[in-house]
Amino acid sequence: MPRSTNLLRIDPERMRTAFDALAQIGATAEGGLNRPTFSPEHLAARKWFAGQIQKAGLEFRTDGAGNHSAFLACGPKDAPSLLLGSHLDSVPNGGRYDGALGVMAAFEVLRTIQAAGLKLKVNLETIDFTDEEGTLVGLLGSAALAGHLEPEWLQNPRGGRAALVEGMKRAGLSDESVLGAARRPESIAGYLELHIEQGKRLERAGVDIGIVSAIIGISSYRLTFLGRADHAGTTTMQDRLDASQGASAFTLAARELVLTDFPDCVVNVGRMDFAPGAFNIVPAHVELWLEFRAPDETSVQRLDSALIIRARAEAERFGLDLKVDFLGRHAPTPMAEATQLAFAAACDALGFTHMPLVSDAGHDGQSLAKICPVGMIFVPSVDGASHAPREFTEWQDCVNGADVLLQAAVRLAG
Ligand code: HGY
Ligand code: MN
Ligand code: MN
Repeated sequence: MPRSTNLLRIDPERMRTAFDALAQIGATAEGGLNRPTFSPEHLAARKWFAGQIQKAGLEFRTDGAGNHSAFLACGPKDAPSLLLGSHLDSVPNGGRYDGALGVMAAFEVLRTIQAAGLKLKVNLETIDFTDEEGTLVGLLGSAALAGHLEPEWLQNPRGGRAALVEGMKRAGLSDESVLGAARRPESIAGYLELHIEQGKRLERAGVDIGIVSAIIGISSYRLTFLGRADHAGTTTMQDRLDASQGASAFTLAARELVLTDFPDCVVNVGRMDFAPGAFNIVPAHVELWLEFRAPDETSVQRLDSALIIRARAEAERFGLDLKVDFLGRHAPTPMAEATQLAFAAACDALGFTHMPLVSDAGHDGQSLAKICPVGMIFVPSVDGASHAPREFTEWQDCVNGADVLLQAAVRLAG
């Protein structure tokens, strides 16, 4: 792709050095990354990032939700900040690009603007949001910063209350500090994020950049199928109240239901915990972790009720009770027109092809969109792989994305 000459660009080598160093923190043998929120690896990555910020001569900031940022005073003293960022936490045994690329690209954009001595109408801030992946809560840091974190999200989070309390303690945070991290909306000019696509559409279309038009809605439940523990040998098949049957039948039924009635949605059962959990005991209960995604509010509501009705039916079929715990929802979120136009202008100026994409992955922009204009771009994922060690994006595509982020930031902030 021809790269036009007279435009400000990032320093690919400097970004590569930072990206590769970060990828070592929590690296797994298969070339992936294991940095769940507030794990020792995640805290080490944040410590490393704080050091890099200070070394680069940028101002290091953090808040009551643990968000970490680099601040560049390139605008008037009390001007709002344009946030650029993503997240340094990963899913368990995930990939090196999800989140990390966005933070390193945003960091490189600030260093480029700092070196060029650009004066802009707003200040710039590179931000690493806490617990984007939802190992503990989901979009925790961005929801706290945007001021719409509901206190009950912290009481019954999808990763469990005990894990959240333990993690916050390791990070020196508390319910109060997290709930107190809200910023004044007028202090934020907007939020831009570069992210890997985590799908195959850009690769299939041979297009350089995806400009996100909207982010999908995501809902989470914990369903507990309640049966009765019995001797696995002496209890006849007819007499059993076997929780595994209800949970398994629901899992298969949920997939069928989405395939037939909700073609633009997805459903996932990411975990099942059997109790007591022994070869020779009929499972007394099975805790099932359910997540589903839908592009609009109507589909969210329709799919929600269809799945819960089906779960109750499968429980009844096997003589089981069912406990339903709602664990939170992120609404389907459109991206701001102005940011999409700025990204398109940046791609055109740089000579990159681009196409609009709906994001089937959740992102921190869903939190920020409640208080400021938000925009996202994607770069291609090889074979669409993500949330797995084989996650990979060609380095030139990473550089392209960072240059587009830089050009869009200058357009919106300039
Ligand atoms: O799960 C997601 O959609 C995102 O990767 N957090
Ligand atoms: Mn991500
Ligand atoms: Mn992710």
